[in-house]
Amino acid sequence: QKGAYPFYMLKEIDEQPGVMRNLIKEYIAEDGSIKIDTDLLKAMADSDRIYIVAAGTSYHAGLVGKELFEKLIQVPTEVHVASEFAYNPPLLSAKPFFIFLSQSGETADSRQVLTQVNQAGYPSLTITNVMNSTLSREATYTLLLYAGPEIAVASTKAYTGQIALEAILAKALGVYKQIATIKDFDVAAELTKAANGMQELVDEKGKIEKIAADMLKDTRNAFYIGRTMDYAIVQEAALKLKEVSYIQTEGFASGELKHGTIALIQENTPVVAIITDKKTANHTRSNAQEVKARGANVLYIVSRDLATPTDQIVLPEITPLLSALVAIVPTQLLAYYASIQRGYDVDKPRNLAKSVTVE
Ligand code: M6R
Repeated sequence: QKGAYPFYMLKEIDEQPGVMRNLIKEYIAEDGSIKIDTDLLKAMADSDRIYIVAAGTSYHAGLVGKELFEKLIQVPTEVHVASEFAYNPPLLSAKPFFIFLSQSGETADSRQVLTQVNQAGYPSLTITNVMNSTLSREATYTLLLYAGPEIAVASTKAYTGQIALEAILAKALGVYKQIATIKDFDVAAELTKAANGMQELVDEKGKIEKIAADMLKDTRNAFYIGRTMDYAIVQEAALKLKEVSYIQTEGFASGELKHGTIALIQENTPVVAIITDKKTANHTRSNAQEVKARGANVLYIVSRDLATPTDQIVLPEITPLLSALVAIVPTQLLAYYASIQRGYDVDKPRNLAKSVTVE
């Protein structure tokens, strides 16, 4: 039931702090230990490489997962679009472990890959929001998101739930493998920060509604730019905006703009720069300046520690590895308001289904 909300998408955006708290409750004990089956951790520890397979928004959550597994616990991780992997798999390592990310657990492209993985006898985990879904039944292990039903076609709370659960899993695996540095990653504290930060952001809806009206109401195209982790985030931000507002949007590695795409920048083209990575903050700022100098209308979404007084949206503090959890929220709201302001049914975008059961 959407209750007082005009649309499910807005309700689901607002539910994200609660999703973080639910995941803490389901997976993290009072003493900080993680409640994940040791058999699963052993299977992961026995492997030499993680392959994350997913589609759409879940694929974008996988891009963040790769950063978590590699940076926190040094496990080599690849992320693949399911529909590509199914017919052009990469050369696999000797002991692969597969993670399927899927809100619905029914995506045909991912199911096709899981069938092949099972035929080859490789171990697998499905991270899903739907208990007993096909991908959950057919994988060796399952972890549930406990996010509550996601009804809007555009995925929001499943994305942040998947990232949070990947962080919990990385922590559990790090402890299991006795990786010394994992002690410094207090996942419960970080997810609590994420919940509080998300709450601050959803409480500022009016501000984002106004920015959407000023920047996106009449535009034909738009760009999101960022580097490293922020590049992973902008790909999801762009998908969100295009699928509900029909604005042609690209999520771009900001360093690549000058290699061609900058030719598309005209007077008033909306460009949203996401800056949460310290190493590349100045680079992305220069790239944003370059498009501004060519007439772009630039919106900055920046972590508090990297922000300048003129940045329009300042993000609450969180470890940089989990910046997606807060940075995505204003972009979800921008997509929501752009769709409403342009007169569309935001919960049911044209040509799309909630779960894609054909290849
Ligand atoms: O249920 P899944 O997570 O497997 O779905 C994957 C995609 O179809 C889904 O994320 C899709 O891209 C959404 N429309 C994104 O908002």
